[in-house]
Amino acid sequence: MVKPDRLTDLECAVVVQDLTVAYKEKPVLWDIDLKIPKGVLLAIVGPNGAGKTTLLRSIMGMIKPAAGNVAIFGQSIAAKKRSIGYMPQRGTVDWDFPTDALDVVMMGRYGHIGWFKRPSVNDKKLSLEALDRVGMADFASRPLNQLSGGQQQRVFLARALVQDADLYFMDEPFVGVDAVTEQAIIELLKELRNQSKTVVVVHHDLQTLADYFDWVSLLNVRQIAYGSVADVLTPENLKITYGGRSSFLMHNPVIT
Ligand SMILES: Nc1ncnc2c1ncn2[C@@H]1O[C@H](COP(=O)(O)OP(=O)(O)OP(=O)(O)O)[C@@H](O)[C@H]1O
Ligand SMILES: [Mg+2]
Repeated sequence: MVKPDRLTDLECAVVVQDLTVAYKEKPVLWDIDLKIPKGVLLAIVGPNGAGKTTLLRSIMGMIKPAAGNVAIFGQSIAAKKRSIGYMPQRGTVDWDFPTDALDVVMMGRYGHIGWFKRPSVNDKKLSLEALDRVGMADFASRPLNQLSGGQQQRVFLARALVQDADLYFMDEPFVGVDAVTEQAIIELLKELRNQSKTVVVVHHDLQTLADYFDWVSLLNVRQIAYGSVADVLTPENLKITYGGRSSFLMHNPVIT
């Protein structure tokens, strides 16, 4: 595998340079440099409050950074918005809006349809297929607030899939889903990667990191380490990332 510092910009889906983000003048991301190669499954890992969601949202242009640059496939975010699919972190979305599962998935098509046009038969067909891929075909007309948390997660995954993007950002897609669904989701993400798509996932489970991902970024306000899972997941790096709470991680069989 190429070392991150050897990547040329042309090989990258995302290039982040000197990114600093602050909320009310308190920096929550500090001087982040990150080159994400095309066609990889990358995990962003770090403790609660590390800035993982903020990093994704800044890359997607939803938060204005205090400093730094982001390029998506060599261009500005404004030019490349349609190449991005996003699954937000659970709990950051109003799950109560009065709409059914199919409508939520079809919202993912609006980048292709335009906001003021009606979805076509084909948009509906693609949306139903995506619901089927995540095992939710039978729930298409069920209101979102009458689905379980894990089922809602799967609907939002289907929405990201119909966006037919080249670059996906998924914020903790495995949280609150059962083991079978987790397997189904990771198979889907690997399938996307195998189609040369780039998939960036916020992930908390160190046990599955090596199995699921090619690359990992360890984050805690600063980027602590970045590269292949084998290179990055060392006791020293985990200690810096998780601080005093890292002792139980040190006995994790993944890293011994
Ligand atoms: N809108 C906001 N206004 C002020 N501070 C914020 C805002 N959003 C997030 N923060 C703060 O920024 C820091 C980073 O938040 P962020 O949501 O990016 O963390 P995270 O790594 O995604 O955490 P988690 O694992 O809990 O999802 C936290 O300290 C958080 O309290
Ligand atoms: Mg988060």
